[in-house]
Amino acid sequence: MGKVFEATKYTYNNLNTVNQRYRHTYHAQTPVGWANDPNGFSYYKGKIHLFHQYNPYNTAWAPMHWGHYTSDDFIKWELQNVALAPDEEYDKDYGAFSGSAIEKDGKLYLMYTGVANDLQQQCIAVSSDGINFEKIGRNPVISSSMLPNAYSKADFRDPYVFVHDDMYYCLIGTKRGSYGNMLMYKSSNLTSWSFVGEVMNSSDKNSPNFYQLNGVYECPSYACIDGKEVLICSPQNLPKDGYMFENINSVVYMIGKFDYNTGRFNYSEVNEIDSGFDFYAAQTRKMNDGRTIMIAWMQMWERTLPTAADGWVGGFTLPRELGIKDNHLYQNPVKEIEKYRSNKVQYYNVNLFNNQSVSLDNINGNTLELEFTLDMNDAKKTGVKLFKGNMHETLVYYDKEKNIVVLDRSKSGANISGVEANNSTRSCKIDLVDGKVKFRIFLDVSSIEVFINDGYHTITANVYPDLTDLGIEFYSVGGNALLESITKYNIEV
Ligand code: FRU
Repeated sequence: MGKVFEATKYTYNNLNTVNQRYRHTYHAQTPVGWANDPNGFSYYKGKIHLFHQYNPYNTAWAPMHWGHYTSDDFIKWELQNVALAPDEEYDKDYGAFSGSAIEKDGKLYLMYTGVANDLQQQCIAVSSDGINFEKIGRNPVISSSMLPNAYSKADFRDPYVFVHDDMYYCLIGTKRGSYGNMLMYKSSNLTSWSFVGEVMNSSDKNSPNFYQLNGVYECPSYACIDGKEVLICSPQNLPKDGYMFENINSVVYMIGKFDYNTGRFNYSEVNEIDSGFDFYAAQTRKMNDGRTIMIAWMQMWERTLPTAADGWVGGFTLPRELGIKDNHLYQNPVKEIEKYRSNKVQYYNVNLFNNQSVSLDNINGNTLELEFTLDMNDAKKTGVKLFKGNMHETLVYYDKEKNIVVLDRSKSGANISGVEANNSTRSCKIDLVDGKVKFRIFLDVSSIEVFINDGYHTITANVYPDLTDLGIEFYSVGGNALLESITKYNIEV
């Protein structure tokens, strides 16, 4: 029995073994077993395709397959057969690592990293129906012999392929010594590639492009958004910088310009995309209607995993539409989510008096969208308690003294610990606009995504409350505040 067939059969046969208690209801997530990074996010033959790193057989990372979903609207996902399995000489040991997808001559090409014999090399699999994939005879198409000498052959992964001026370019994460970098390759046909150059200047400490770290720049991604070139990657071990990079593994973006002759990306700032606990390996793709959509793994390495006992680990964020305004990356959930709204409840001008908590009729639940505009007035810390029960609550609030939005999951439910010093809170700098801050929050049983000030910044996290923790309360500390407007929708798929 072929390994793809075996993994597919195992998946379908074991769907019912998963305990449903923490399962998301309107996010993509692993059908069973383990999932990490989203891969091959693309539009092909009328469908949106989402592949992902996948081990069907248990809830820990193991040699990687590519799981596969398709969708018509980014929200409702249809499970497809496993797309790739470790079944060739060049991917037999650790499998098919992360990569991307692109359409060429009516076929869908997956470009991924095959891992065997401690080598990471870039490979291609092709499909003419978007479901069944065949690895090509020429693999690996970018072998480790095509890696400049100083780079680590054991860390050369996650090819992101895109088109520029009728040429295919591909960005690959790697490191040289302890300096992370990405390398650019180019091809006219996706099978024969040549080296272009280093993307970052990681060796010259005096260069404005220098950015020190100890690890690989994993999962590169790239998009041209609102006329600006945006480079995204997931670096390991960035040093904490204010409220940025509190996780060991972060996702960053840089706005700049590629020099396609040298491969160098010129930029001036590195910023964190999402300040939450659980956001990694983000991948973007410009879809057929011109929107650039990003999706990320809504989980994190090196943490305790409360769903492991339930037979699954690993879900994905809401797909987010990206925009650039004033040289800043904005993220908003795809508009298709609005189709699934029901039971609208709205309030205006609700006073939040000092040291009081307010609950509002029909504003509660754990699969919903909650929008509110908060006028901080003279309050110090004001926000909302979500997933609230007798024992648990997850806080999202504005701290006016520090000018930050905070997500606090210390009392959320099942305990989560990780290698980071701070397991309780994640924060991001947000300036009030006319004394106000705007929130749009999505709860989905065990996940929370906070969009702040029309997508200016986001905080994403998993939490594991009891299923009876359905309360929502607004509160204020250190003064009075005003909720100008509150809207809640249930989200039902
Ligand atoms: C990122 C990552 C990638 C790699 C994959 C393996 O989370 O480490 O660099 O391709 O996971 O599953």
